[in-house]
Amino acid sequence: MSIENTYVLVTGASAGIGAEFARQYAAAGYNLVLTARREKTLENLAGQLSSTYRVEVEVIPADLLVSGDVQKLVDRLAQAEHPVEILVNNAGFGLGQPFEEAPAQRHLDQVQVLAAVPLQLMHAAIRAMLPRGRGRIINVASVAAFTPGGTYSAVKRFMVVASESANIQYRDRGIDVTALCPGLTRSDFHHAMGQEQPKVPGVFWLSPQQVVTEAIAAVNAGKPVCVPSLPYKVAAGISQIIPRRAVAALISRTRNY
Ligand SMILES: NC(=O)c1ccc[n+]([C@@H]2O[C@H](COP(=O)([O-])OP(=O)(O)OC[C@H]3O[C@@H](n4cnc5c(N)ncnc54)[C@H](OP(=O)(O)O)[C@@H]3O)[C@@H](O)[C@H]2O)c1
Repeated sequence: MSIENTYVLVTGASAGIGAEFARQYAAAGYNLVLTARREKTLENLAGQLSSTYRVEVEVIPADLLVSGDVQKLVDRLAQAEHPVEILVNNAGFGLGQPFEEAPAQRHLDQVQVLAAVPLQLMHAAIRAMLPRGRGRIINVASVAAFTPGGTYSAVKRFMVVASESANIQYRDRGIDVTALCPGLTRSDFHHAMGQEQPKVPGVFWLSPQQVVTEAIAAVNAGKPVCVPSLPYKVAAGISQIIPRRAVAALISRTRNY
């Protein structure tokens, strides 16, 4: 894919893994469309990246729980001028509460931000990419998709299957789709849930740099699923063959619900 005049749209670009996607794509010469709720944070990042890497950076402040805001992103993906050729569906949050303690609406919000909106954006992106015969989509899921870890795991599983399906359906038409399934990654994620960072051995903590580097290599290679780092590749494999209750016990200290 030629990167001249190529735009990458990243959701959840104001922190963590999303901000790192923005940095790595800007460093590679791609123009960006950054979105999240915190406009000032996005503007600061946009200023840094455009001056450091000499790329164009657009900012679209949007709350993915507000349908009018989501429509702005759908419209941007459909735009023929300055086309978005890479979509990174990254925004997300954990509930940090057991199933029955979190209000039902928060579970529905999680389904909205982590599954329904990414699906809507992937749909808009694929419609725009098909006539051009090229495009890439990274859906940030989680290694939790392979575990029985509540609503969070369920919606992440949804994104893995949706990504695998789109990968098979559109690869021959020039569009590569990858589900990124990181394990614990240093970001604002646990702080945003009001939780301490889980106490697990250091080998299970990933940097956003490593996660994003592996994700970009995977989508460039057309892989349907990317699980960064050897320990998590092994853990994801084992989780598919041992009893589900044993998997649930193993992840009990890292649950996001
Ligand atoms: N960190 C981990 O251990 C880990 C592991 C596996 C998968 N993941 C996944 O990785 C993705 C990125 O998470 P992260 O670790 O980078 O967490 P983070 O640092 O907390 O970043 C989350 C991003 O999502 C955005 N966001 C949250 N709710 C939103 C909403 N309603 N509308 C628009 N944007 C919203 C936030 O922006 P604003 O607050 O500015 O809106 C922020 O930019 C998520 O999908 C998460 O589930 C994380």
